[in-house]
Amino acid sequence: MKFLSTLSVFAAPIAALHASARSPTNATEPIITTKVTPSYWRATFANPPFNIEDNAWFASFFALVNKITHDPDVKVVVFDSSAPDFFMAHFDIINPVKQEYLDTYWGNITLLANSPVLTIAAVQGIARGGGAELVAALDVQFASKEKAKFGQIEVGFGQLPGGGGMSLLPRLVGRSRALEIILGSEDFDADTAAEYGWINRAIPDAEFEEFVDSYARRVSSFDKVALSEAKRIVNKRSSYPTAEEQKEDWNAFLGTLRQPHVQARTGKAIELGLQKDLDFELNIDQEMMKLVGKGPWNV
Ligand SMILES: *[C@@H]1O[C@H](CO)[C@@H](O)[C@H](O)[C@H]1NC(C)=O
Repeated sequence: MKFLSTLSVFAAPIAALHASARSPTNATEPIITTKVTPSYWRATFANPPFNIEDNAWFASFFALVNKITHDPDVKVVVFDSSAPDFFMAHFDIINPVKQEYLDTYWGNITLLANSPVLTIAAVQGIARGGGAELVAALDVQFASKEKAKFGQIEVGFGQLPGGGGMSLLPRLVGRSRALEIILGSEDFDADTAAEYGWINRAIPDAEFEEFVDSYARRVSSFDKVALSEAKRIVNKRSSYPTAEEQKEDWNAFLGTLRQPHVQARTGKAIELGLQKDLDFELNIDQEMMKLVGKGPWNV
């Protein structure tokens, strides 16, 4: 998870330099909500090619959390993506994300985790950085064996997974595997992620949609009182990270980001194709190896 936004002194020039590289303004909402039935909703990330978590995404996400937590009928929400390669690439690195959105994210993501509604990540593409953290923050994770990939790539850029990953991963996969994932900054396929407990299970892509849809329909047919009480007690027994813990991680991330060489490296990565070029984004865990050290980087 990376934002240059909070560091306006650095973010402004980077944003100006790369203004032409902004993702095209999407005429539609970045998250499209479909009520399959009153109790089973799909929330589809629809800002191709990368599904960047940008200002528009945050506004849409908060509105969705508000709808989910106030609707008496909804029991299950499946989060998926209409972009072919990405579930969600990462947070917006180029265009400043509003401080008010950063301030209210932790409360909203924790509210969702503690809501009576079951959230399911249905991942058929790449989820890295803030995208991987969002997947981990949802209740249940299903992923396509062939198409899904997960990565906390921040340390490779001299930063930290500040979007909840450092609090969530040790609880999901244990200390040693969390260290392997976070310090290695590498991609993981769905089978390995499932073996580690990062996700619930990996499913062959040909069976994926049917599997997710039948699970969501089955759960959404059950009584809301039983579902919400089950989730409440399981949450109580399993110590989901608090908003305060996640904020502490975020502040540690900001500390790494403030270093001038990290700013320079991020600027260079943008120049090389970060958040712009499909090949760079697809192979980011390899591309980052060109930018190790304090620079200058001759690439
Ligand atoms: C969720 O986000 C909205 C919009 O930014 C904000 O008004 C609200 O207070 C947030 N909720 C929590 C629980 O933090």
